[in-house]
Amino acid sequence: MASIGESLIQVKGVRKVFQDPKKGVETLALDGITLEIRPSEFLLLLGPSGCGKTTLLNILAGFDYPTDGEVLLHGRPVQGTSPDRGVIFQSPNLFPWLSVWNNILYGPKARGESGEEVRARAEWLIQLVGLKGFEHNTVRSSSPCPFSVRRVLEEGQISPFFKDWRPS
Ligand SMILES: Nc1ncnc2c1ncn2[C@@H]1O[C@H](COP(=O)(O)OP(=O)(O)OP(=O)(O)O)[C@@H](O)[C@H]1O
Ligand SMILES: [Mg+2]
Repeated sequence: MASIGESLIQVKGVRKVFQDPKKGVETLALDGITLEIRPSEFLLLLGPSGCGKTTLLNILAGFDYPTDGEVLLHGRPVQGTSPDRGVIFQSPNLFPWLSVWNNILYGPKARGESGEEVRARAEWLIQLVGLKGFEHNTVRSSSPCPFSVRRVLEEGQISPFFKDWRPS
């Protein structure tokens, strides 16, 4: 765990150019982006449509790469996706063919996590969103499953970010 004051994320001179060779078009999406995020800091990217917010987030997540510059996490270059970073998309991305339980457990299973703590956390989330008794229904059939509920279930998938959580 990084200590306060130490850099968590460093973005150094990031530039991103999208190329469309068929149309011969180049789009400069980011240029000279330099910033630093420390532990417990909350950063908001605010700007008009097309200014490059998603492009920067995709680079931080490791979904895409900068044309120039680099991104460091704990001082090490980001070179792709990793369980040490999670992305919550604008619209929830649950797996409609999986049960509520398996949606929550998808992330932990992919990371090789199991055991009583993982199960207790899943049960707590299910209780929290009122889906007790419906945990083995698919998300599609767990009606009503409003946006806020879907968000909480999705949060279950990225649970390493809430590792300090303990059921009370
Ligand atoms: N895959 C791509 N190929 C080509 N151009 C792209 C691609 N992705 C984004 N762009 C372009 O890069 C620029 C930045 O796009 P981006 O999606 O990062 O903006 P944004 O700030 O997230 O916008 P919005 O607020 O609409 O979500 C835009 O001009 C966009 O058209
Ligand atoms: Mg965007």
